[in-house]
Amino acid sequence: MYNPQLNAQGELVHLLTTEGLPRRILTQILDRAGEFMAEVDAGNKKFPTLAGRSVFNLFFENSTRTRTTFEIAAKRLSADVTSLNIQASSTAKGETLLDTIHNLEAMGADLFVVRHAQSGAAHLIAQHVKPGIAVVNAGDGRHAHPTQALLDMYTIRHYKGDFTNLRVAIVGDILHSRVARSQIHALSTLGCPEIRVIAPKTLLPTGIESLGVHVYHDMAEGLADVDVVAMLRLQNERMSGAYLPSTQEFFKHYGLTEEKLGYAKPDAIVMHPGPMNRGVEIDSAVADGERAVILPQVTFGIAVRMAVMEIVANNQQQAR
Ligand code: CP
Repeated sequence: MYNPQLNAQGELVHLLTTEGLPRRILTQILDRAGEFMAEVDAGNKKFPTLAGRSVFNLFFENSTRTRTTFEIAAKRLSADVTSLNIQASSTAKGETLLDTIHNLEAMGADLFVVRHAQSGAAHLIAQHVKPGIAVVNAGDGRHAHPTQALLDMYTIRHYKGDFTNLRVAIVGDILHSRVARSQIHALSTLGCPEIRVIAPKTLLPTGIESLGVHVYHDMAEGLADVDVVAMLRLQNERMSGAYLPSTQEFFKHYGLTEEKLGYAKPDAIVMHPGPMNRGVEIDSAVADGERAVILPQVTFGIAVRMAVMEIVANNQQQAR
């Protein structure tokens, strides 16, 4: 089946979604990220891979972690990095997304990192860039956030070793979450045998079971004996109605407390993509507790984004 992320040889040339990516490519990214982590741990923080290439960070939506770690990753690969200030750009004067892209191409762009509120924005750009230019999706609407899912997979593999005997629970606002979708596709491709989603009915997309997940509405049942608890934020900016009686009510039933974490395995890890809303989806005692791996996720994100940019840029170079 045609996959716009892959070239004729089946190599990754854009990263737009984890859906449909073969296991060999997910593993290639995780393995390369592991090599970068080892190098950085040994004190080597600069690599010549993207020397002379121009990376443009285009964040049409707010971001702390993704934007900053992409920038650090590109600099570690020796790229020339430009982070466009969207608020001060000509998009505010009505310039279209594709006109902006074509102008940046005219400035010598080699790789675009794009976050946009519109689902499909990164796909659209990938369809219209010149041959040899790579596009990496840094989150589009409620559709996909592939590098977040990949750093989550890296984190799980780091702490648990393997995917093939794990129970993973994804908890919270599944309906509006691009992270949840990308995690489910990646976990499934990597062989995770049991993926659970835990949420109130109002925060679950219809037909989610078709992705192969088990649905729970109760934390005691859903968290029972899981190895990984992946929390999600309530995506208030994507809600256009009343999905919940109140955030207090949500916390009471779905907020991760020490007590509820007690249903999971004793060595279960707790992940969160950030930004966290303490007291809404997660209690501070858990967020700052021994089983939380939330800050290591951020660190791993740099290595994962280095791996992704290196792989797509190298594969695109062959198209020039
Ligand atoms: N996880 C994540 O995407 O965080 P930011 O919105 O801060 O980039």
